[in-house]
Amino acid sequence: MSKQLEGQVALVTGAGRGIGQAIARALGAAGAHVVAAARSKREIEAVAREIVAAGGQALGLPLDIAQEDQVSAAFAQVRERLGRLDVLVNNAGIGRFGPVVDFASAELKQVTAVNLLGTFWCCQQAMRLMIPQRRGYIINISSVVGFKGYPNQAAYTATKHAVMGLTKSLAVEAQPHGIRVSAILPGGVDTSMVGDARPDLDRSILMRPEDIAQTVMFLLSLSEKAAVDEIYIRRRTSQPF
Ligand SMILES: NC(=O)c1ccc[n+]([C@@H]2O[C@H](COP(=O)([O-])OP(=O)(O)OC[C@H]3O[C@@H](n4cnc5c(N)ncnc54)[C@H](OP(=O)(O)O)[C@@H]3O)[C@@H](O)[C@H]2O)c1
Repeated sequence: MSKQLEGQVALVTGAGRGIGQAIARALGAAGAHVVAAARSKREIEAVAREIVAAGGQALGLPLDIAQEDQVSAAFAQVRERLGRLDVLVNNAGIGRFGPVVDFASAELKQVTAVNLLGTFWCCQQAMRLMIPQRRGYIINISSVVGFKGYPNQAAYTATKHAVMGLTKSLAVEAQPHGIRVSAILPGGVDTSMVGDARPDLDRSILMRPEDIAQTVMFLLSLSEKAAVDEIYIRRRTSQPF
């Protein structure tokens, strides 16, 4: 029996650890040829090796999405080596936290360069590959802070609101080309990033990265007649996160 994503190429940014690693594994298990991208070569190569060892297909692609020239070179490599792109998961992101009153400009620029500019450039390059195919799916990993606000998270929150703006606008722009664009907005997930953002939280009560990976797989399981704008997924609790 053929697998759900057999013959498809899926690029995941930030695939070296955390949520992106779980997404890459799930896509590989579903038969996609996975392109695992991030800055840490060692981590993405380990993820690619693991997918191949499990019987799938994958390659690790070193990429800093905050560098526009690296983004265009990476997508050019995908075109040359694999010939197509069916799924892009814009998962790479960084958190920089602290009160607005003391927030350093360098940190503001860094978080914006990765979370907004990098995500935008990846969408742009993916569109250039997907438009001639007349199909494709772009999934942006936003956050609960894509619609809520928390203290000491203003810069991160602003970039994730911006990712929602990008997602909403691109979804409409991409539709006539047969390309779907959705956002997933997770609450707390047990990764190293959340330890920095919320050192007060007991990480054992958070969602698992696999919960977000399954949400990606759900979106990809829908027929091309269905469009999902966004999915907010949070940990099960009676308290607000
Ligand atoms: N954890 C949560 O509670 C949570 C909740 C909501 C949303 N999110 C979002 O989910 C995504 C993944 O978060 P996570 O918790 O899994 O974080 P993580 O464990 O810190 O992993 C982040 C991944 O992104 C990569 N990355 C960072 N900067 C990059 C850059 N400039 N270019 C390419 N790759 C880059 C990292 O690899 P390198 O450092 O090697 O590049 C790593 O593979 C982020 O967008 C985050 O905002 C997380």
